[in-house]
Amino acid sequence: MEIRFEQTKSPKAKPTDESKLGFGHIFTDHMFAMNYDAGQGWHDARIVPYGEISLSPAAMCLHYGQEIFEGLKAYRTADGTVQLFRPDENYKRMNTSAERMVIPKIDEEFMVEATKKLVEIEKDWVPHTDGASLYIRPFIFATDPFVGVKPADHYLFLIILSPSGPYYSTGLDPVKIYVEQKYVRAVRGGTGFAKTAANYAISLKGQDEAHEQDYEQVLWLDGVEQKYIEEVGSMNIFFVIDGEVITPELTGSVLPGITRKSALEVCKSKGIKATERRITIQEVADAYDAGKLDEVFGTGTAAVISPVGHLKWGDKVMTINDNKIGPISQMLYDTMTGIQWGKIEDTFGWTVKI
Ligand code: COI
Repeated sequence: MEIRFEQTKSPKAKPTDESKLGFGHIFTDHMFAMNYDAGQGWHDARIVPYGEISLSPAAMCLHYGQEIFEGLKAYRTADGTVQLFRPDENYKRMNTSAERMVIPKIDEEFMVEATKKLVEIEKDWVPHTDGASLYIRPFIFATDPFVGVKPADHYLFLIILSPSGPYYSTGLDPVKIYVEQKYVRAVRGGTGFAKTAANYAISLKGQDEAHEQDYEQVLWLDGVEQKYIEEVGSMNIFFVIDGEVITPELTGSVLPGITRKSALEVCKSKGIKATERRITIQEVADAYDAGKLDEVFGTGTAAVISPVGHLKWGDKVMTINDNKIGPISQMLYDTMTGIQWGKIEDTFGWTVKI
């Protein structure tokens, strides 16, 4: 499919102080768009000026949340090249989400090419500062003007770009996490593994209550027994217990994170024992009491590798590694960001140059 290009007539000023970018506030000059109509398939791929879209008040996405999204980043390397990190994995996962949410599949290879083309056009927006990157948000939503519940016949696919700094205002300083015991995020057979808006909407109440107690994020337990650890919502979670790296296995209610998968591969390549298995919050607390909980960290595209300094479970507050980043978290942070920003050789073949 050809991608039509319409250049903006009013380019915006680029941010001058990249240390103040924050996450997801600023958007570039252009966006990618493509429509789906039943009988016609995906068509009219275009890169057009970033701007407001017009949508019927009856658009189905607004009523029943038939929406999916992805998150990836473009990085500027020291020699000025711009590169993506495993974009094929994002579009593969987008199709898994599409399948669950009864949204028409996309051509993964075409979408990688479309993303490269959009980033190429917007390459001057890719930040130059260490730790900052161009966040890429592809998303698809149902547009039919209809208030009955059924899979839609019409969809819009957009990709918007946002020059961004760290997701957490604390940067690489450890985050405080609160183990949620009242609300649940996902259940077996639900949508936990899909990247769909509802999973994030459902997390807001717990996050709000965690904030009231001065905790940044919520650690979700399984939706049935509230015993097994699942994920944080904005990132997957890892524990280092007695030298072994453990992350909850993908049972259908956990997002299959690309940084999660990459972190496991990096650990294995360095001879570190890394296991995907079910793990209870009780096991983590017991390891803490036995002095064997060495490190806790989260992984995500936005969150990168985020050390966890405090974990609160009911009245028990666990302070991990003296609230400092541990050696495995630091190694993973250095390796992942080293590959992403082109500072170390990408022996895995994960980066895609623009
Ligand atoms: C990402 O890491 O890209 C995500 O989509 C998480 C989101 C909460 C920012």
